[in-house]
Amino acid sequence: MNNQYYVVLIVSLLILLVNVSTSSAQRQVYIVYLGEHRHSHSHSGKQTWEEIEEMHHSYLQAVKGSKEEAKACIIYSYKNVINGFSALLTPQEAATISEMEGVISVFHSHPTKSRLHTTRSWDFMSLLEANWDATRQPINPGRFLRRAGYGKNVIVGVLDSGVWPESQSFNDEGMEPIPSSWKGICESGVAFNSSHCNRKLVGARYYLKSYEANFGPLDPKLDFRSPRDINGHGTHTSSTIGGRRVRNAAAIGGFGYGTATGGAPLVRLAIYKVCWPIPGQTPVEGNTCLDDDMLAAFDDAIADGVQVISVSIGRNTSTPYIQDGIAIGSLHAVKRNIVVACSAGNSGPTPFTVTNVAPWIITVGASSIDRVFSSPVLLGNGAQVQGQSITPFKKGTYPLVKHI
Ligand SMILES: *[C@@H]1O[C@H](CO)[C@@H](O)[C@H](O)[C@H]1NC(C)=O
Ligand SMILES: *[C@@H]1O[C@H](CO)[C@@H](O)[C@H](O)[C@H]1NC(C)=O
Repeated sequence: MNNQYYVVLIVSLLILLVNVSTSSAQRQVYIVYLGEHRHSHSHSGKQTWEEIEEMHHSYLQAVKGSKEEAKACIIYSYKNVINGFSALLTPQEAATISEMEGVISVFHSHPTKSRLHTTRSWDFMSLLEANWDATRQPINPGRFLRRAGYGKNVIVGVLDSGVWPESQSFNDEGMEPIPSSWKGICESGVAFNSSHCNRKLVGARYYLKSYEANFGPLDPKLDFRSPRDINGHGTHTSSTIGGRRVRNAAAIGGFGYGTATGGAPLVRLAIYKVCWPIPGQTPVEGNTCLDDDMLAAFDDAIADGVQVISVSIGRNTSTPYIQDGIAIGSLHAVKRNIVVACSAGNSGPTPFTVTNVAPWIITVGASSIDRVFSSPVLLGNGAQVQGQSITPFKKGTYPLVKHI
């Protein structure tokens, strides 16, 4: 080989590198939302998964030119209930697709848009029988829990940072077999396999494709490539919802009055890990939960057969519902009679800090201290509704926000 050949090789390599880096710098992850699949998969006349994927590829093929390029840029293809896909696109390609027939919205899955929220515990609400204080609560929460069967046979899907399965909150001693309606799975990965699920922790999955499209391969020093929770938030929220904290051996198996210490101690939990650490940031501030990873989790949770979905994730700005993965995912869940409860967030008290306010979501507010700020809500027709406020502003001094 002569020197000339090397020069040509190096120059063409450089051109190639420049091309790759400029085109990938322009490309970002976009979600193309197409609504709902027309036929449920259990009916005849349904579209097969191959047909759905083919249909999603056809949108991409129209802007990318070839089927190969379409396949190479697609990240998710939602096939169960939610109809849509996510892909690496340039802003121009995204704009072209947004004009195509059947497209409801095209939006950017921005890496810092959604973050984990911390939540307050049941202890704070005095819902627990053991902590129940008759002087503070007008209703008997023990009776309330008993009437709800302690959540028996209800499967709650939790979208969060995963789970630490060895926690005593997830022990399944004395629990009945998993309801036959459950169709979910226990996905294996790093330090996690099917033996980590049980009658309490009935399912666990993880969603990482969009995270890796944005940040590159997951650094194994930062998190487990599996449903296992390194952050601790997911373990906290799922044990707050349905954890069992059995105080003494006598209580095992006999969840009678006065012994249960979880929120709804007999619910089954299905974990959907969608939040991951951002490289180079602290675990608390530097986590992200991407819209298309969350949509994939919603789509699976609905098909898996959960009855409740809990999401303590949010963003601190108001995003239109058709560009909000949590609003879209929960709409499809609620349409199938799944209750979706989301956190209102921890920011404030400033305007536009309450999140997850879509009317089909049960938005759960948290207060940081054991005191109540009573404050009337004045409606347009003059009616006053007594409520609570987190704002320290005095009547009349609240800054008026003009909605443009
Ligand atoms: C699952 O992992 C545990 C260790 O955490 C191991 O003891 C067990 O054999 C594994 N089970 C399967 C089915 O791979
Ligand atoms: C909230 O939004 C501001 C401004 O957009 C941003 O600087 C801040 O990091 C956000 N905080 C959280 C917790 O997302």
